[in-house]
Amino acid sequence: MLRRETHRPDGVVPWDELVASHLDGPRLEHSRRTAAFAADLARRFGLDPSAAYRAALLHDIDKGVPAAQLLDRVRRLGLTGELVEPPWPEILHGPVAAAELMALGLDPEEAAAIAEHTTGRAGMGPLSMVVYVADKIEPGRDYEGVEALRRDVGPDLVGTMRRVMTDQVAHMLRRGAPVHPTSLGTWNWLSTKGEDGAGR
Ligand SMILES: [Fe+2]
Ligand SMILES: [Fe+2]
Repeated sequence: MLRRETHRPDGVVPWDELVASHLDGPRLEHSRRTAAFAADLARRFGLDPSAAYRAALLHDIDKGVPAAQLLDRVRRLGLTGELVEPPWPEILHGPVAAAELMALGLDPEEAAAIAEHTTGRAGMGPLSMVVYVADKIEPGRDYEGVEALRRDVGPDLVGTMRRVMTDQVAHMLRRGAPVHPTSLGTWNWLSTKGEDGAGR
């Protein structure tokens, strides 16, 4: 479980310290870049930048935890649902971290953004979209097409989310890789949305 020794006696969790005590190297740098990018996106879309910063900073805090340990935590935390069902160990770090961080007092909307950062969710909220997008196209990401995705951000969040997710799903399909059912559900939901988020 997330180590608790970084907690202060006043009960306020210093999230930056918590992240830095669990991650280092490229993963910590990715988390910090994602946080800064998410805060920028939040400002652009009229959301709370500090909530976006915090959720994005924490999104991969359990990324280095081995699959067997994550499965053990799923059991201990009593987590259920599509995101924690086998055989998708690579996405467990999101929902497990979300549950652990909520137990430490993280806001539920921020925790949801962390839980959903690999798959999205049909009906996902704007903060979850911001964290998803920031994770996939933060300035340290370097893959074919990412510059265009960064350039095409905005002015509408749903359209941005759809473009980024389409690229992710297409990449999996081109590789012949399986696509998580929640990701497909998210993509299907996004495909029904107009550029302004209205149904189409
Ligand atoms: Fe992740
Ligand atoms: Fe990430």
